[in-house]
Amino acid sequence: MQEITIRRPDDWHLHLRDGAMLQGILPESARDFARAIVMPNLVPPVVTGADAAAYRDRILRALPEGATFEPLMTLYLTEGTDPADVAAAAASGLVKAVKLYPAGATTNSHGGVRDLDKVMPVLERMAAIGLPLCTHGEVTDPEVDIFDREAVFIDTVLSPLRARLPELRVVMEHITTEEGAAYALEGGDTLGATITTHHLIINRNHLLVGGIKPHYYCLPVAKREAHRLALRRAATSGDGHFFLGTDSAPHVDALKEHACGCAGCFTATNTMPLLAHVFEEEGALDRLEAFASLNGPAFYRLPANETRLRLVKSAAPHAFPEKILTEAGPVTVFNPGFPVHWHVES
Ligand code: NCD
Ligand code: ZN
Repeated sequence: MQEITIRRPDDWHLHLRDGAMLQGILPESARDFARAIVMPNLVPPVVTGADAAAYRDRILRALPEGATFEPLMTLYLTEGTDPADVAAAAASGLVKAVKLYPAGATTNSHGGVRDLDKVMPVLERMAAIGLPLCTHGEVTDPEVDIFDREAVFIDTVLSPLRARLPELRVVMEHITTEEGAAYALEGGDTLGATITTHHLIINRNHLLVGGIKPHYYCLPVAKREAHRLALRRAATSGDGHFFLGTDSAPHVDALKEHACGCAGCFTATNTMPLLAHVFEEEGALDRLEAFASLNGPAFYRLPANETRLRLVKSAAPHAFPEKILTEAGPVTVFNPGFPVHWHVES
């Protein structure tokens, strides 16, 4: 038996949804994580400070008895977003970041941004007050191949934006490429990058070889193996630019196993055991705490958690639920395709 105790982790990119889905899946994150940056791509999206306050209340009401999970709220940036509303929501402590979805880039992003010029007043205010911008870093130009969309976003959107507004604090969400990891590493202290659990485990072959695997389909889509290995090097490096954002994104099975299947992997249930497995494989168990529990709070200027989480490795593989049964329908838990011997000791 082997074990490791780390400060309780946080999830710096999480989809909690709403209603019956929220009720069904929230315990899966609240079990292991102390806090999470909650994505605002509901229908309709969380746009104003008032929307975020109401959504936060719904999340807190959906928490299981005794859970201490703290949702850190974000606003969905639109071309109509009011800089003063953002500043007030940040000053009150309610909102911790604003999320940029290029219109059409992913699930529920049609209300996102088409023209960055239109949101510059908001971004300038955010730069002035130090409020981070979380970016879904993919261009949506139909001419750009889906596997190239992250690298092209860095060159044509992110890099010019950061040159124009150097004080703006930016998180590159769910990076999936060597280019993303290299850019984040060189980004100085105004830049961070989240990495998901699943992008450390699957490449595009897992998605496409031997039959299409809808539960491995997410956005940004998994890339070739060299990119997965670059993400592993980044996550396990201990470097402060990189921190965990699971992007756990539940969709009911009927919408994943569909002719036009939804994007999203649901990893809230087994992320910490999977990360222990990955970090052990990389000989970096001693750096798991930096990735999952220290680098994120440091970037967001929040204290690290004082409570601890213990992971234990047993001789026999640990069985995780295959699905979480919610009132909205069943949600398939991410299956890494190998036996996992780690589990969180409760
Ligand atoms: C996310 C979702 O379903 O909301 N899906 C995904 O594949 N990651 C949206 C997102 O973060 O892109
Ligand atoms: Zn996401």
